[in-house]
This record gives sequence, structure tokens and C-alpha cells, in this order.
Amino acid sequence: MISLRDLANRELLDLVPYEPGKPVDDVARELGLDPSSIIKLASNENPLGPSPLAVEAMRKSLESAHFYPDGGGFHLRTAIANAFNLGRENVVLGNGSNEIIELLFHTFTRPGIHEIVTSRHAFAVYTLMAQLFGVRAIVVDDVDFTPDLPAMLRAVTPQTRLIFLASPNNPTGTRVTNEALETFLRELPPHVIAVLDEAYYEFLDNPPDTIGHVRNGERVVLMRTFSKIQGLAGLRIGYGLATAEITDLLQRARQPFNANAIAQAGAIAGLADIEHQKKTKAITDEGRQFIESAFARMGLKYVPSSANFVLVHVGDGGEVFKRLMKKGVIIRSMVSYNLPGYIRVSIGTPEQNARFLAELPAALEGLVEVANGERDTPTVGWSPSAIV
Ligand SMILES: Cc1ncc(COP(=O)(O)O)c(C=O)c1O
Repeated sequence: MISLRDLANRELLDLVPYEPGKPVDDVARELGLDPSSIIKLASNENPLGPSPLAVEAMRKSLESAHFYPDGGGFHLRTAIANAFNLGRENVVLGNGSNEIIELLFHTFTRPGIHEIVTSRHAFAVYTLMAQLFGVRAIVVDDVDFTPDLPAMLRAVTPQTRLIFLASPNNPTGTRVTNEALETFLRELPPHVIAVLDEAYYEFLDNPPDTIGHVRNGERVVLMRTFSKIQGLAGLRIGYGLATAEITDLLQRARQPFNANAIAQAGAIAGLADIEHQKKTKAITDEGRQFIESAFARMGLKYVPSSANFVLVHVGDGGEVFKRLMKKGVIIRSMVSYNLPGYIRVSIGTPEQNARFLAELPAALEGLVEVANGERDTPTVGWSPSAIV
């Protein structure tokens, strides 16, 4: 009898699925720990939780859960457009911004014909999706964990349709400069759509005016999400911003009800809660500084971050992940990103950050040399290229 593997799509067979952060419940079950004693700093979630206004709006919307959602997302798209001084026709909703990535492949690529360009250590879903769609991904080496934009431009061929750039990038936390981004966008040939993944945009100081490029009618798609600064990752809601011509194409590729009603209600209220976003940025900035200075005092090599997480060299990330997990601290091993010596830790509340740092020295034993903490000036000017 013909095997199921022979019946399945060839692209699927070699696919290594995306490895998400380990859920608290899984760790509690596997290790017999009390879930309330576990902290998760593994998925760049918001340690403050969702905006209370979003929670209230979602509660209300539950009572109408017997109705299908508004497939056109009229109110949420209007709210997003108003927030950014764009038109509703410039907004497309996604089941998380991850879905926008998928819509882009559906819309602009053909298997075996087209290519995408991305950078080494970029968010994993771009290349995963390329594989699934049978599209060749050209992965350009980065410099100090930062995308090398001129090299990415040089990698473009007549077959390239999408070029993916996350700034800040996950898992490195690095950003490109506003000037470099401007040059990059100016020099991109017209047969290539620039996909700017702005999942962590709201954490930036001095952010680039990327929306200006949408208003200018350029071939860019901005991907943003309610999962990070808004604290609504469980709802799966994100959006793309682009010209009406581009969003019209993307809208054709989505399922009729891809954004659920509860998510739409929560997102509208969350978007309006500017205070909650400000609080989240403030706690993130403080926590990041606290964690980065502690790494520096310990003599650990970390990549200075512009987002709500930090990538740090610990010798054996898989082992440190296991040791910390046994102590009820979930972080992310970077083995799947081909960075086996690293872990990535999300910024939590001050208590969570302190607990992670208290457990860390024991988890590093025998793996990496740790300074005794007497040096309290951070290692400034450390360049990741020294150890890559
Ligand atoms: C760079 C980047 N882009 C996109 C996403 C997807 O976010 P979501 O699908 O939750 O909107 C993530 C999630 O971690 C991310 O780190």
C-alpha cells in the first residue's frame, strides 16, 4: 500500500516544526511542580498581563459569542487606521502577525519559482513558511547579530518577491538604524515587497517612521501585533499595514473569519489603553537594564537588546534551559536557532527578573566562567562578533 508519507506534500516531510516556549502547565505536569511557583520568561510576553480595559471588553463580547465575528473587522481596522492616521483600507487583520507572513506567501510567491531573502538569526517563521510553500529562502549572514542590509539587497534576484526584516529582531533583540533602513527601502527594486516585521516596534526609542512609507504608496508591508506590548498573545491577533492595493490582495488570501470576535473586542480596547502600553514600556526598559547590567557584572556576553528579551551566551543553552526549568524558571534554549551556546530570556516583572538572576549562577556551573560580581561597571562596547 502506498505510504502516507508518499501521499503527503514533499515540503512537509522535512519540516522541523516551530518550537514555542514551554507552557507553565507542561513544566508543572512533567516535573510535579506547583504551577503558581513557576515563572515563564520564554515567549516575550507582557509581564503585566493584558490591559484591564481589554479584559473588560472581552468579557462583554463573550455574551455575543454565538455570532460569527465581523469578518471584515470593521471596528478594529478603523481603530488601527485612526491610531496611525491611515485609512481602513490600509489595514489587514491576522490570526497573530504570524498569519500575515502566511498571507504574504500565498499572495506573492509560487512554489519552485520565487524566492525570499532574509537574514541569519532572523525570526524562524520566515524560512519555515518558505519551506512549507516550496519557496527558496536566501539567508544572508548578519554582522554582530544585526541584519546586513546592503548584503541583503545584493542577494535579491529577479525571482525574489519578499524580503523579510525584523527590527527589533527576535531572538537577537538587535535593530537596524533608521538611516540604514531608509537607504535599504530606497534601493529595493520594485519587484520585491519589503516586509518589515515590527512585532517589537513599540519598545523602540527613536523608532523609524515606517508608516510614512505606507502613506507614500511604497511596496512595504508592516507587520504588527497585539501579542507583545498589548499583552494579548493568547488571543492571536495581529495586523499588516500597507497600501490599499497590497491589502486588497492580502485580504483575498485569508480565511473569512480569521480574526475572532473576542480578539477584535480586546484589541480595540487594548489599543486605546495608552497608559498600559506606557507602563509596559517602562517596566521593560527598567528590567532590561537590570538584567543586562547583571550579565555584564557576571562577565556573560550578551547582545544589547532593543526589545523585551535578551540573548546571552551561557556555554550550553540546552543544559541551562533544563537546569533552570527544574527550578521553575522557563527561559528559551536557542538550539533551534542554531545558537546552542545561548539562551534568550524575556524581561519579566522586577520579582521575576530577580528570581531568574538568583537561579542563574547555579545553572551555569561548569559551563561558563562567571565573574564574582565585584565588577559593577557593565562591559561596554562588547562586540558579539568576538565570539561568533
Ligand atoms: C519577530 C516576530 N514576529 C512575529 C511574531 C509573531 O507574533 P504573533 O503571531 O503572536 O503576532 C513574533 C512572536 O514572537 C516575533 O518575535
